[in-house]
This record gives sequence, structure tokens and C-alpha cells, in this order.
Amino acid sequence: MANEINTIGVLTSGGDAPGMNAAIRAVVREAIFKGKRVMGIKRGYAGLLQEEIYEMKAIDVSEIIQRGGTILQTARCKEFTTPEGQQKGADICRKHGIDGVVVIGGDGSFRGAQKLAAYGINTIGVPGTIDLDIACTDYTIGFDTAVNTAMDAIDKVRDTSTSHERCSIIEVMGRGAGFIALWCGIANGAENVLLPEKYDYDEQALVNNIIENRKKGKKHHIIINAEGIGHSISMAKRIEAATGVETRATILGYMQRGGAPTARDRMQASVMGAYAVDILCEGKSNRVVGEKDGKLMDIDIDEALSMDKSVDDYEFQVCGNLSK
Ligand code: ADP
Ligand code: F6P
Repeated sequence: MANEINTIGVLTSGGDAPGMNAAIRAVVREAIFKGKRVMGIKRGYAGLLQEEIYEMKAIDVSEIIQRGGTILQTARCKEFTTPEGQQKGADICRKHGIDGVVVIGGDGSFRGAQKLAAYGINTIGVPGTIDLDIACTDYTIGFDTAVNTAMDAIDKVRDTSTSHERCSIIEVMGRGAGFIALWCGIANGAENVLLPEKYDYDEQALVNNIIENRKKGKKHHIIINAEGIGHSISMAKRIEAATGVETRATILGYMQRGGAPTARDRMQASVMGAYAVDILCEGKSNRVVGEKDGKLMDIDIDEALSMDKSVDDYEFQVCGNLSK
């Protein structure tokens, strides 16, 4: 076989996500099962350029399937966005005998993997991000845990919101994407959900909705605000002034990135990580692993990065209908 894979590198890059450890474990164990050597690369592309590389044995990934975060650490690395950095990264892989690398991360990390492939190192991307914003796949590792964490937190804010008869604006993560916000909107029964993909910035409509709900006898009013819209604290002040209803903002923040992965994230991470090794060993490169219609698949990174993804129109419509 051209480009026979004997040694596989694995790294996590970009924002961490619950389930990344399960994916690392799957890469290491599947590769060893296939008789390959595995090298862990610490701190994403930054660690690659610093040669923070060590051999991983099956025992090194014991006790991690249930843990949040990433034992390999993660980082963002500016140097790797330059051609010089990418060439250096590929040379370091060759120096350490690494024939192929599994990159666990989001879109940005896949751009890095694409460059590494262009410099002659076989690469496979595994989608790891709480944001669910990778277009080529229906699922990204970390989303299920993050959305459940956010849902639990919003339930708690709602208790105090109801006791005090307040309006609560709760900001959830998602970078430029509204998937966490939409899912929580439906799962928490929020009165309003503001998504970057859909919001018309009509604050008067929000104000009217709060006043109408008060007249109907609702004791709380939950507004889920996606990170891509932001400004939750100033929005709360404006809404309180316009409605006369005490309004508080809560920004959930990084708690959404941590914690033990759910069964779904452990399962997806395990099969996606193993699949990445399988296709790497078949000689594939510059591919992203994904899930489409319940089936594992892989797709060219260039094509994957050119695709768009938006929230589902029907789900958004239902979210609004059920909050009336
Ligand atoms: P995510 O993978 O979660 O989307 P980032 O967008 O921050 O996270 O990307 C993670 C890292 O991937 C960056 O810090 C950088 O090292 C690398 N990367 C991002 N874009 C590129 C690019 N165009 N070329 C090479 N490397 C990139
Ligand atoms: O992509 C995951 C994510 O948690 C986004 O939801 C958020 O915008 C971003 O990462 C925050 O990244 P950082 O770790 O750089 O603050």
C-alpha cells in the first residue's frame, strides 16, 4: 500500500468538549488492536510545533472514558496557520515517524488537518465541539452533554425566576450557531429563544411578549439568548426598564464545556474515533468522520469545509408555537 500507516498521532484542538477523552481512548485502543503504534500529541498544533509528543499504550487511556476535558490538553495556535508552521508540523511528524494524524476538534482544527495533509501527512478529522456547527455531520462529540448541562442549569434558574416572578435571560454557548439555544428552548419550554440564525433584533416584540405573558398569569419568563447574539446584561436592563418586570441575566459560560460525557457522547466518540483509525489504515487522508442519517461516514475535508448548516426551520417554528 502507498503511504502505509505504521504510527498514528492523535491530538485534540480548539475548544474542549465532553467525550474528547472517549475519542482519544478509541483512537489509541483501535490502533493498538490493529498492530499500530500511537503517539499522543499534547496541546493541539501548539504542542506539535513544540514536539510535545509521547508514545501512548493501551493502559494510558484507562480510566478516561468517563472524564470531561481532554487528557491531551488543547490549545489554539497561531503559528500553525502559517505555511512555515504547517511545514514545520509535517516535518516534526516525519521526524517522530508519524504517518497519519487523527485530529479531534472543530472546523478550525480541520483546516489545520487539511494543511497537514497538503504537506504529506495523512489526516482524519473527528468532530469534537459542543456547538454542533460542523455542516458535514449530524452529530458532533460534546453536544449532548453540553445541552443537558445547560438544560439542568436553566431549570434551576427557572425555579428562582418563578419564585421572584422575574424575567430571566440565560445566555448559552454556541459561538455563531444556535443549536444549544434551540434545543434548550424546546427542552426547557422557554418563552423566547434568540438565535443568530433567526433573530430580527425586534426588542419591542420581546417586551410585548413579556407583558402579555404576565397578563396570562405566567410567573416566570425565560429568554434563552445564544452567545452569537450576546449582550445579555445590557438587554436585561433595557427589558426591565421597558416592562417594569425585574429582569436578570445569567451567562452559563464554560460550565457547558465540562463534566462527565453522556452515554451518547461516549458512544459517538468511541465509534467515530475507531472509524477514524480504520479509514486511516485503509490509506485515506484529508477526510472528516461524520454521522449522517444514523450511519457513520467520511467526507473530503475540502468539501466538508465548504458546506453550510443552519438550525431546522420546523424545530424553530415548533419552539415558538409551544411557548405561547
Ligand atoms: P475549532 O477547531 O474548535 O473550530 P479553532 O477555530 O480555534 O477551533 O481552531 C483550532 C486551531 O486550528 C487554531 O488555533 C489553529 O492552530 C488551527 N487552525 C485554524 N484555522 C486554520 C487554518 N486556516 N490553517 C491552519 N490551521 C488552522
Ligand atoms: O467552540 C466551542 C466554544 O465553547 C464556543 O461555544 C465558544 O464561543 C468558544 O468555544 C469559546 O472559546 P474559548 O475557549 O476561546 O473562550
